[in-house]
Amino acid sequence: MCGIIGATGQGCVTEILLEGLARLEYRGYDSAGVALQADGDLWRARAATGTRSLEDLRKIVDGAPDAGGALTGIGHTRWATHGHPTEENAHPIMDCSGRVAVVHNGIIENWRELTARLASDGHVRTSDTDTEVLVHLVEEELATGASLVEAVRATLREVSGTFALAVVCAGEPGTIVAARRVSPLVIGLADGDPEGEVAGEALLASDIPALLGRTRRLWALEDDQVVELRPGSMRVTTLAGKEVEPSVLQVNWDLEAAEKGGHPDFMGKEIHEQPRALSDTLLGRLLPDGTFALDELRISDEDLSRVDKVFIVACGSSYHAGLVAKYAIEHWARLPTEIDIASEFRYRDPVLDSRTLVIGVSQSGETIDTLQAMREARQWSAKVLVISNVVDSSMAREADGVLYTRAGPEVGVASTKTHLAQIVALEVLALHLAQLHGRMPPADARMLFGDLEGLPDLVELALAREKDVAEIACRFLGTRDFFFLGRHVGYPVALEGALKLKEIAYLRAEGYPAGELKHGPIALIEPGAVVVGVATRTRLWEKMMGNVAEVRSRGATVVLVANDGDSDTADQADEVLWVPSTDPLLAPVIDVVPLQLFAYHLARAHGHDVDRPRNLAKTVTVE
Ligand code: AGP
Repeated sequence: MCGIIGATGQGCVTEILLEGLARLEYRGYDSAGVALQADGDLWRARAATGTRSLEDLRKIVDGAPDAGGALTGIGHTRWATHGHPTEENAHPIMDCSGRVAVVHNGIIENWRELTARLASDGHVRTSDTDTEVLVHLVEEELATGASLVEAVRATLREVSGTFALAVVCAGEPGTIVAARRVSPLVIGLADGDPEGEVAGEALLASDIPALLGRTRRLWALEDDQVVELRPGSMRVTTLAGKEVEPSVLQVNWDLEAAEKGGHPDFMGKEIHEQPRALSDTLLGRLLPDGTFALDELRISDEDLSRVDKVFIVACGSSYHAGLVAKYAIEHWARLPTEIDIASEFRYRDPVLDSRTLVIGVSQSGETIDTLQAMREARQWSAKVLVISNVVDSSMAREADGVLYTRAGPEVGVASTKTHLAQIVALEVLALHLAQLHGRMPPADARMLFGDLEGLPDLVELALAREKDVAEIACRFLGTRDFFFLGRHVGYPVALEGALKLKEIAYLRAEGYPAGELKHGPIALIEPGAVVVGVATRTRLWEKMMGNVAEVRSRGATVVLVANDGDSDTADQADEVLWVPSTDPLLAPVIDVVPLQLFAYHLARAHGHDVDRPRNLAKTVTVE
């Protein structure tokens, strides 16, 4: 989830790049960098100073006498996935000769094999990024006499994974070659002078905001298309070299709308980014032999196979993701698993030793309650692992190991895409533990991983029903109290649905395991009470429906999350939130989506700012 930009033309290319990067900072700011072509040479500047990266990059560029004269350049703002957020890992990444530079957004899945092959051919690796293989492959092709565009095409035929990339080389002044697969890429042409004596600029960016104000003549590149940009012109071809017409982009957004991808707020945008967050988190995790590639884990297979007990510590939505994982780890790996609200963990004298695995779950990696719980665990010599969305966060640095979700930056205070990414990362970890403990043959793990890979499409289907969910939500504008019920993995989904409603719609919402209702809370059910139930076909569906009957018979209005076509469930509901079905242990990833949308649309209908709910902060660093 990085931002990329490129420009070639007679105008102030350096300024176009720096201004474009400033508009792309919402895609990450671990580092920023540019590569500029001037006088047949390539010059690169990079800064990796977190929120100051771009400011520091500008100082370096301003201090460089040649930078202002550049006519062609590419730039990048990084959200780290592979490799720490350091200057060495900042883009542009260069080849061995320093004459080719690449910027990349996405993940190269087969980077391990390619890195090994390139190393044996004598290439020297200067970063820990997956991106670096791209530039050395281009370098090899150029050495055979290929043009830059031929070299890029040949390179892309070798790589698997996702990319939006741009490449420049010293040997082809004025040319940028760019391409995409899955990660978006937008092309723009700006007019030259009216007499046509000066060609205009040709521009590219990962996102529309970077080009707004520069031109309204925009095109979107399709998967596996390659574009050659020269001042004022572009030529688009397929990977096989066949010329194609790119699709024209009609954009009527202003800058603010463009940053939100046309959504009214970041939360809406992030809810719709969930399929992508899931596929990025899963990308490259399964190896051909059916084992898992969890490079950042840093805890040896030997240590993990010695583990005899698991503790999960987390807060809020991350706690709910952890609760799903408890069911998955116990079912697949048969390891006893406890879960604690992180702020309670260290005050209850937990019994831990060197064979205990403690998993901290935190999108920010900075939540003080979770950090302190992890510190407590380390004092007892437990192995500590964190699931985090932020590379090199405090937790990632302090833990023995880390598994990154790759959801990209989340701006909305209410977690959505990071929550879903946490669940799938934890489920991959559960499968890994199951294998190491001899509980799951590779064929079964491969099949379940296939189901995980099917989730992005199913979430997309759930999102396609947004209009229906919004209509249902608006029927409850007058309701102040909600009960959310679920059983088994539907229970954490109910908790998450209730939390979303509390934090952005400011409505009282109780999340309960449905079987617990009759032990007290059912006293609150009377005609008019609204009960939202997670009633998809997981293990305890029949028992769940029994609990639904209990509240219906006391006059509650019932809203049920049900699997597509399940009329038995729908018959027991006043309103139905339809979702596609999957393996029961993976279902929370899909089932929570209509509950996010329910809270989102109800909050908006109440006129609340969903991105910045009152009294809350995105990262909680006080106990
Ligand atoms: C969720 O919508 C909230 N913003 C909050 O509960 C959050 O999940 C919690 O504060 C934990 O944050 P973390 O994942 O960054 O540790």
